[in-house]
Amino acid sequence: MAIMAKELGLKGIYLPSENAMEAGVVGEIDVYPSNTLSELVQSLNGMERISPIKIDGDQVVNQADYDMDFSDVCGQENVKRTLEIAAAGGHNLLMIGPPGAGKTMLAQRLSTIIPSLTFEESLETSKVYSVMGLMPKGEGLITARPFRAPHHTISDAGLIGGGQTPKPGEVSLAHNGVLFLDEMPEFKKNVLEVLRQPMESGIVTISRANSTVTYPANFILVGAMNPCPCGFFADPKRECTCSYREIRRYRARISGPLMDRIDIHVDVPSVPFKDLTGVSQGQSTSDIRQRVIAARKIQEKRLHKTKIHTNAMMNSRQIKRFCQIDENSNSLLEMAMDKFGLSARALSRILKISRTIADLAGSQEIDQAHIAEAIQYRSLDRKLIV
Ligand SMILES: Nc1ncnc2c1ncn2[C@@H]1O[C@H](COP(=O)(O)OP(=O)(O)O)[C@@H](O)[C@H]1O
Ligand SMILES: [Mg+2]
Ligand SMILES: [Zn+2]
Repeated sequence: MAIMAKELGLKGIYLPSENAMEAGVVGEIDVYPSNTLSELVQSLNGMERISPIKIDGDQVVNQADYDMDFSDVCGQENVKRTLEIAAAGGHNLLMIGPPGAGKTMLAQRLSTIIPSLTFEESLETSKVYSVMGLMPKGEGLITARPFRAPHHTISDAGLIGGGQTPKPGEVSLAHNGVLFLDEMPEFKKNVLEVLRQPMESGIVTISRANSTVTYPANFILVGAMNPCPCGFFADPKRECTCSYREIRRYRARISGPLMDRIDIHVDVPSVPFKDLTGVSQGQSTSDIRQRVIAARKIQEKRLHKTKIHTNAMMNSRQIKRFCQIDENSNSLLEMAMDKFGLSARALSRILKISRTIADLAGSQEIDQAHIAEAIQYRSLDRKLIV
């Protein structure tokens, strides 16, 4: 409402004190907090003066505090590396591993390595929380990147939004942050289907008989799943009891079009006890975030004449243009496609990821090492051997 009032050219708005901070960050419009109606009446009668609140939005945004760190996670260096790549290039990611391997713990930390919200982003996200009445008490802005983890029993309306007066769903609450779908194959098929629109366009449009509402929904998707129904496929210690058909059926629950939007697959093995009890030597959130910020700057520079700003958003034409590789890399790719039975779809994913890997390395050219690493991140495209 405050944003609308500003856009209509109004000068000020009176609000209950509890909501004033939220509106105050809009700027260019005076927000007068009032504790009681009589206070408001007195002020309007000129008997008492209420002064408008002052908030420096940029300062608020820089206060983001996550209360968790990558160094909390022991081992899993390979998974941390893929999360770094996902954060750098804006890639969606799927984690495959047995229960208790640390998938949830790792996913939660992804939002901490994405560069801080800009003031504009913070305002967009706060708008959604404000509409839902979910702003933390006394705070004017959402300052941390959201992390949303809806349960797999969620309805399609709960996920993308809906209701009589259409309310934003989880995809919009995750705007500018991370949407984590744990046990992804357990979500109802129609629920996963509705994710396609926001994943393609970064917005959701909810239509009702007499109105259409659009909410922002631009997020990094992190999915998690067991490798098979019993959870122990390819586990070095426990035996998998699933048949080839059961595994195929389980994996096929995530539909092709959705899988198409997931660039990175990563195996998350359970961590051996000795690694869990040892002193973590892991990298911290701030180390990783520095590299992510540098890689994002490179992308912004390269893509500044396009409408996109991360590698993950490249279409096939842009991939052709920005992901050129030499003869050697080309033959490496060809060999891998052949050996692992990778599809043409996998190819464009590999090129995108290797672009991000090269950017993280500060390299203009995509070289063989970058391609070789990217090939590892397509494990679900490989032929299934039981
Ligand atoms: N690599 C790890 N380092 C430290 N703690 C871990 C690690 N992996 C798992 N844990 C511990 O095990 C718990 C369960 O992990 P969780 O992330 O819920 O696993 P998953 O989501 O794969 O089932 C975590 O809360 C954490 O305490
Ligand atoms: Mg979990
Ligand atoms: Zn199994």
